[in-house]
Amino acid sequence: MADLANDDLLRYRSEFPILERTTYMISNSLGAMPRGVYDSVHEYCDAWASRGVRAWEEKWWMMACEVGDLIGGIMNAPANSVSLQLNVTSCQAVVASCFDFSGKRNKVVYSDMNFPSVMYFWEAQRSRGARINMVRTDDGVHVPTERLIDAIDEETLLVPISHVVFRSSYIKDVKAIIEKAHKVGAHVVLDAFQSLGNVPVDVQALNVDFAVGGVLKWLCGGPGTSYLYVRPDLGKKLEPKFTGWFAHQNPFAFEIGPSKYGDQPFRFMQGTSNVPGFYTALPGLKIIREAGVDKIRAKSKKMTARLIELADQRGWKVNAPRDPERRGGTVAIDMPNSHEVSQELLRRDVLVDWRPRAGVRFSPHFYNTMEEIDRAIQTVDEILSKMGVAAGTR
Ligand SMILES: Cc1ncc(COP(=O)(O)O)c(C=O)c1O
Repeated sequence: MADLANDDLLRYRSEFPILERTTYMISNSLGAMPRGVYDSVHEYCDAWASRGVRAWEEKWWMMACEVGDLIGGIMNAPANSVSLQLNVTSCQAVVASCFDFSGKRNKVVYSDMNFPSVMYFWEAQRSRGARINMVRTDDGVHVPTERLIDAIDEETLLVPISHVVFRSSYIKDVKAIIEKAHKVGAHVVLDAFQSLGNVPVDVQALNVDFAVGGVLKWLCGGPGTSYLYVRPDLGKKLEPKFTGWFAHQNPFAFEIGPSKYGDQPFRFMQGTSNVPGFYTALPGLKIIREAGVDKIRAKSKKMTARLIELADQRGWKVNAPRDPERRGGTVAIDMPNSHEVSQELLRRDVLVDWRPRAGVRFSPHFYNTMEEIDRAIQTVDEILSKMGVAAGTR
């Protein structure tokens, strides 16, 4: 393998069992499971089986800080500024519950390229007084930054936006959007689900107010662990109304009446946390931190460029930004019969997904080889030729 000689990220390949059996190109949806998850889950079971309720005090309670800080380290967040939540949708709920929509400043500005769950959540806040301004795309790939910036005004309260757009992998100019929001007194909720672990994110350099995402894609964790970064100055004063006993400054006093908010990260949590999810998240986070996102990003750019080159050679439509600086880790390719092709790829153990108006989505990660990219596209050639579609036709 020529790749192995000059790509030191490939030393992690043996940590991911599924790579022995499949061409794994779907890290935008679910990252490959690290081998270490078996031991980690075993450790969870051992603690429960042998330590019983004492496991809370000995390990589980503070694991929220341990895992939160591991995630925080990948986005340059200060210690204790990242709380753990169940999913990105619930992160939006925590943020929304910190604000009042009854005043003049009650506008929520977002783009129609947001992940639908995030969109559904904010649309539902109309009944709580939120005025929603959804800024639309023309090309299905991006919303011009100027258009978003122009929509953010003195009456804007919140701007929930994706860093990397899930549909097209377009990387937004979030710095410009955050600057405009701050200029008029609005807050930005950055959805970093499709960036963190693959594209560098620095919450302090961006000066973003909130950052959210989950661990199950580019961070190679499992379902049920999501993160909510709150900028520390806001973390001292905001009082989420979606709250519970974990957020109380003295939870074990079991006081009656309104909560007295404690410090971050627990301040933004609610009730009993998803401990097994924390255990499944740990091995992937450790690998990503050790491998380093800058290296991962450099390799990702090469792999996505190769996918585009191969698609261009065949005359297939590429639904991803051409500019590598604006392109995340996914390349959607709309070849002929793309839906059927995606189903046949899955049958042949090339793991991808398909989306209407986008095509087959290929999302290689640091553990993939260039040879796998070539092989995945060759497999498409074989499938098309079996279907009687000549290469180069659309
Ligand atoms: C950008 C983005 N945000 C959010 C989600 C999912 O949200 P949740 O964690 O609420 O399921 C996804 C999932 O694919 C996503 O790509």
